[in-house]
Amino acid sequence: MVSVDGAKLEAFMGRALGDLGAAISGLMVYLGDRLGLYKAMAAMGPITPDVLAAETATDARYVHEWLDNQAAGGYVTYDARAGTYELPPEQALALADEESPAFLPGGFTGIVAAYVDADTFVDAFRTGRGVGWHEHDERLFVGTERLFRPGYKGYLVSEWIPELEGVEGRLRSGATAADIGCGHGASTIVMAQTYTASRFVGFDYHAASIDTARRRASEAGVADRVRFEVASAKDYPQDGYDLVTFFDCLHDMGDPVGAAVHARRALADGGTVMLVEPFAGDHPEDNHNPVGRAFYGFSTVVCTMASRAQEVGLALGAQAGEARLREIFEQAGFATFRRATETPLNIVYEARA
Ligand SMILES: C[S@@+](CC[C@H](N)C(=O)[O-])C[C@H]1O[C@@H](n2cnc3c(N)ncnc32)[C@H](O)[C@@H]1O
Repeated sequence: MVSVDGAKLEAFMGRALGDLGAAISGLMVYLGDRLGLYKAMAAMGPITPDVLAAETATDARYVHEWLDNQAAGGYVTYDARAGTYELPPEQALALADEESPAFLPGGFTGIVAAYVDADTFVDAFRTGRGVGWHEHDERLFVGTERLFRPGYKGYLVSEWIPELEGVEGRLRSGATAADIGCGHGASTIVMAQTYTASRFVGFDYHAASIDTARRRASEAGVADRVRFEVASAKDYPQDGYDLVTFFDCLHDMGDPVGAAVHARRALADGGTVMLVEPFAGDHPEDNHNPVGRAFYGFSTVVCTMASRAQEVGLALGAQAGEARLREIFEQAGFATFRRATETPLNIVYEARA
């Protein structure tokens, strides 16, 4: 019989029960976001459940229960005397302000999508089969866009592109760029809004994402300079781009080396590949922390399964780390590969032929 340390068991149970609360609270964040509860609270200050329910056309009893979940998690504060709940300004930035780089509800939308697909993942674990990006609940696509877009708006043109050698000048004076695995086109559109003399084309193998990206470009008023086309990372036209970008997608691909070779051949003379990947250290133990935990979770059921669904099926994972990514670009024949900059959630690499 294995002997169990009571104190360690108690400590682990405390942690696991906390996770149980956190897991159901993920759904609570989804509800607060979908129903406009956070946005109403951000606009109104201290508020009673009845007023919040009336303001958002929701059921007051459910809203009351939800508010106590939120207060228990430190998402809102509660004034017992007044019977009011309040969303503090810091939480409002993270939960109610779609333009803030701290905005998080997109990630929770992605988690709801993953829960919906849970039995597909059970089957994939048993069989080893891949699950293509296109096979997921469609909330994953919108969730990804809403999670990443604020970061692109906050950092891409102000901090990331200026760190690449000669790229900003080229884009300002008029260049062509291809955004591979562009999804709903958040990064493509942010670049097009800033570099008005340049032309952009976004490619993704997922046709439904390309339809949405085209709509987003029209809504943003940049459709005259941005095209979106359905194409995989190994079959888009190699039209001599000054810049080829991969935002959080290379590790989702079955054949990242093949994608990098194709990108190298698609570059104009002196062109640059910009690779943005989730923040990660080179060794698994470097990533055994809260952020790595979230990335490994999404990577298990989204990224590695997406890669497995494609030819080669390398299944790099979202926490591949710099050394592994460098190897891929060296195998693909690039002359240089370097870490250009980083944020707490991303590392930006530059590769040149
Ligand atoms: C995590 S999403 C990132 C989307 C987008 N780059 C962003 O940052 O919002 C990964 C994207 O890679 C695309 N993708 C995966 N494999 C691909 C391939 N072989 N060729 C083109 N796109 C691919 C998926 O369809 C999906 O849109």
